[in-house]
Amino acid sequence: MRFSSLCIQQTVAVWRGSVVRSEIHSERILVLDFGAQYVQLIARRVREAGVYCEIRAYDMSEADFVAFAPKGVILSGGPESVTVTDSPRAPEFIWRAGVPVLGICYGMQTMAVQLGGSVGHVREREFGHARIEWRAQTELSEVDDAATAEMADGADVAIGADVWMSHGDQVQQMPNGFALWAATPSAPIAAMFDASRRYFGVQFHPEVTHTEGGQALINRFVRDVCGCSGLWTAGNIIDDAVARIRAQVGTDPVLLGLSGGVDSSVTAALLARAIGDRLTAIFVDNGLLRLGEGDEVMRAFGGEAGNSLPIRIVRVDAQDAFLSQLQGVTDPEAKRKVIGRVFIEVFEREAKAVAGGAKWLAQGTIYPDVVESAATKHGKAHVIKSHHNVGGLPERMQLGLVEPLRELFKDEVRAVGLALGLPAALINRHPFPGPGLGVRILGEVKREYADVLRRADAIFIEELRRAGWYEQVSQAFAVYLPVKSVGVVGDARRYEHVIALRSVATSDFMTADWSPLPFELLGTVARRIVNEIAGISRVVYDITSKPPGTIEWE
Ligand code: XMP
Repeated sequence: MRFSSLCIQQTVAVWRGSVVRSEIHSERILVLDFGAQYVQLIARRVREAGVYCEIRAYDMSEADFVAFAPKGVILSGGPESVTVTDSPRAPEFIWRAGVPVLGICYGMQTMAVQLGGSVGHVREREFGHARIEWRAQTELSEVDDAATAEMADGADVAIGADVWMSHGDQVQQMPNGFALWAATPSAPIAAMFDASRRYFGVQFHPEVTHTEGGQALINRFVRDVCGCSGLWTAGNIIDDAVARIRAQVGTDPVLLGLSGGVDSSVTAALLARAIGDRLTAIFVDNGLLRLGEGDEVMRAFGGEAGNSLPIRIVRVDAQDAFLSQLQGVTDPEAKRKVIGRVFIEVFEREAKAVAGGAKWLAQGTIYPDVVESAATKHGKAHVIKSHHNVGGLPERMQLGLVEPLRELFKDEVRAVGLALGLPAALINRHPFPGPGLGVRILGEVKREYADVLRRADAIFIEELRRAGWYEQVSQAFAVYLPVKSVGVVGDARRYEHVIALRSVATSDFMTADWSPLPFELLGTVARRIVNEIAGISRVVYDITSKPPGTIEWE
């Protein structure tokens, strides 16, 4: 099967059962995936334009398409070449549907060949920035539809814009009915449009931030050309989710595993809004949390002064259970398995005790989890999922699943959380892996290592915040290296363990750049860690990007 189509088909299968149609879903854009690296970015940009969209495989069935009823279609880029005979094509029914189509890169090329134009190889693959010139002005007098004319004008889309290109083929001849929309020095047909059918093709990538005015182009397409009014706002998403939760669970009690991370916190807040104290959240302290994390979660949700969230929250101290089961376990995957297994045991026991009658289990599954559910890049996707997805619990305990964030991207989850009144500090927190410090203590996990690591990590984060760097990086943390190294503090020789500091910037956590933190900041952190924590003799900074490194050390 071609590239990711297996995964895409599975995704489609997951979605097929859950096609929902409420007011905010009434305007929807279809993003057809040809295996693009940036397909999720395209969908995010459409959502940012205030319009609901879903990603589907390029070979979706006509019945699915008709049921989906999009107001417009975006054809993504892809790794293949349309010049190869059996490369993917957009389904023919798209062209009969009478809806506007925007083809991006490969999407433009397949549009060109399918409608009668031609595409050829360029001698050298074009990759990176290009200056674009919008050329459609001469054609505009003949365009009746104002939205199409404005889009084709390119004026709002920053004429002369810096755009991002990445292609080895380009359109050589436009199909009948198309006019030249834009050119770059190396791509004479860098963009094209057919005003009467409202088809647009761009060789560059409007979805990446390197393309100046890219979001404006997508706004114009989905709002003006496709005629979507922008119903997809945090307020509407909340109203819709609340109505759907109520319709799903009726008056039944619901159980939630609250980790304190953004996804489960926002799930909790949504459920609190929808069903109030019929929600019971279980927060498991596994002894592998960050400093003060348990107290913070209780403060945010525990009904203390000033907190309006009416959640029944049960805090379970299971530190001993986790740490004793981890004794002697050094292999990273084995550690993950132990943590996952003990979590399920603890959760199941507590769930029976506190909410024996619960029929539903709420989970913070988000849209990228759904899209990537089968796209295991490094064999870890399942573990990542099992953090939300409490193993086989739903089936064993005969619980139905409530997943109110299933359609949302992370930035939408954050916006919803803020709109629900969750503290910004909690919402904007760096992600934290399900197995917690278990993957940040190399080798065997010991309570004393976890205690030291918590303090070192807290110092690092405190200094990052103080220096204004916390928000500028995507994830920063300390790692415990149980290798001994000699140091000297005062007159005393020290022979203790090492702390590594890790900080990365990333948009999708699939790739990441190490952060160029100021030396002065690193110096302060190192000094404080060695001075304030007796068990550490040395601090190092990790300058490995991903790939080849991963973000966690394991
Ligand atoms: P790596 O180390 O694979 O991590 O580059 C990518 C991102 O995933 C997070 N991560 C996890 N998150 N459960 C989670 O919820 C896990 O088991 C897990 N393992 C890694 C990691 O912190 C980073 O943000």
